[in-house]
Order: sequence, then structure tokens, then C-alpha cells
Amino acid sequence: MTGFIQITDTHIVSPGALAYGRSDTAEALRRAVETINAKRPLWDGIDCAIVTGDLTDHGTPEEYAHFLSIMKDLTLPWLAIPGNHDQRGPMREALAEASWMPRKGPIQWVRDFGPFSVIGLDTLLEGAHHGMLCDEGMAFLDTTLSALGDHPVILVTHHPFMHVGIPAMDADNLRNGAAVIARLEAHPGPVRMVSGHVHRAVTGQLGRVTCQVSPATCHAVLTDHRAGQPPELVLEPGAVTIHSWIDQPGAGLVSDVIPTGVFPGPWLFED
Ligand SMILES: [Fe+2]
Ligand SMILES: [Fe+2]
Repeated sequence: MTGFIQITDTHIVSPGALAYGRSDTAEALRRAVETINAKRPLWDGIDCAIVTGDLTDHGTPEEYAHFLSIMKDLTLPWLAIPGNHDQRGPMREALAEASWMPRKGPIQWVRDFGPFSVIGLDTLLEGAHHGMLCDEGMAFLDTTLSALGDHPVILVTHHPFMHVGIPAMDADNLRNGAAVIARLEAHPGPVRMVSGHVHRAVTGQLGRVTCQVSPATCHAVLTDHRAGQPPELVLEPGAVTIHSWIDQPGAGLVSDVIPTGVFPGPWLFED
């Protein structure tokens, strides 16, 4: 088995502050790191983490320093892409030592996991909450997909293209995502799109592309299907998501949402 763990929407603010005056995002990320470190011995082949955007809430150097001070305890190497709450310049500077961080342009990369490859794309349009893949990002996607032939591809983005039924969030999706889905549909191998941004666990299908949104480590966005409602945060439990390539009965990516924290158990069902 091989795979990765997705950490998303950590929304780190300055030390001692609460995001939106209510959400202790630093404590939530610490809880996620502790959960991953404690449970890793039970997981087969999970050898890296991918942070899918909104690492910080405002994209300041101070917030990235705070993010890194918590992430240094994670016993896994990790990669990241930005979200709408990030700022490319400060994020690049904070992570300049990372082997996957491009020196300029979009923060995008590809990583080979053996049975599949992950392409990380940068959908941040600075100054906006909705996502947009720039021309350079689209060209990188084209080149990478064609180099991968019929190899299975997992595309990771902060913004999903799929609507989740929450109008306030759907308005801020990946606006030019149709072009991305068209490219994935044309890929001769298996494809999946994995995102964050919505702070909920949601799965759907666009054509032959399974689209998945993973829950945040911190606060959730309330599921509210009514039109005209502003987005509301709710302090539901945080989570991370394990994505594992499982060969049987048919090879594919299997995703398991793991709530963060310490819970009663485990116990044998029968002694
Ligand atoms: Fe977010
Ligand atoms: Fe976001």
C-alpha cells in the first residue's frame, strides 16, 4: 500500500489569537499533528503529507512562522499548495528550503508515488476568494499529464470545481475548473480531483472524474443549502484524510477521514 495524508485549511493566525475571534486554529493543527504522529504506526505506506491550502488566515510572514513552528513536530515530510487565504510571496519565502517549492511563478509540483502520481496546482488568485488556474498552471497541467501517459493521476487543488450545495461556497469555486476537468477526462489513465476550501467532507462526480473535498483541521463551514445565506463557521471536530492506493479488488485510491483528537478506545469487539 502507498499513499499520503491530506491536511487542509489550517488557517493559522498570530500566536495567541483566534481565527474569526472563535476558532483556535493553532490548537487544532497541534491536535492534527499529534493524531497523525500517534496513529502512523497503524498505517501502511503513508510516507508524506500534503497540505492543500489556507495554511494561514492572512498570509503574513508571522503566520507562516507560526504554522511552521507547529508543523516541525510532524514526523512526516510534507508538500503544500496555496489557498485563497495564503499569499504566494510570504509562503514561498517561508518554505524556500523545501525541495518542491518553485523559485518563482505558481506554487505547483508533481510527486511520484509509484502506482500513481499527484499533481499539485496553485489556484490562488490574490485578492479574490474564488480560485483561478493561471495560464502557466494550465500549461504545467498539460505538460505533466502528457508526460504521465496513462499513469493514474490524483490532482490536488485548494479550490474544488464541483459544487457542494452550499451557495456561498460554490460561488467561490475554481472558476475555470471546467477546463481542468476536461483535461482530466481526456487523460487515458484513472483520475481523481482532491481539494479543500469547503471545510467539509464531500464527494461527487463530474464526468468520469471523482471529485473530493476534505474537512479542515479546524472549524467547519455550516452545511446550509439556502440561497443568499452568508457562510457560517461551526466548531465541528477537525479531521485529516488518509488517501491510500489499494490494489484489491480493483486498484484505486481509497480515502478515509480521520477525526483529530483522542477518543475512548480502541477495544477488541470480543475478548
Ligand atoms: Fe479554508
Ligand atoms: Fe479557502
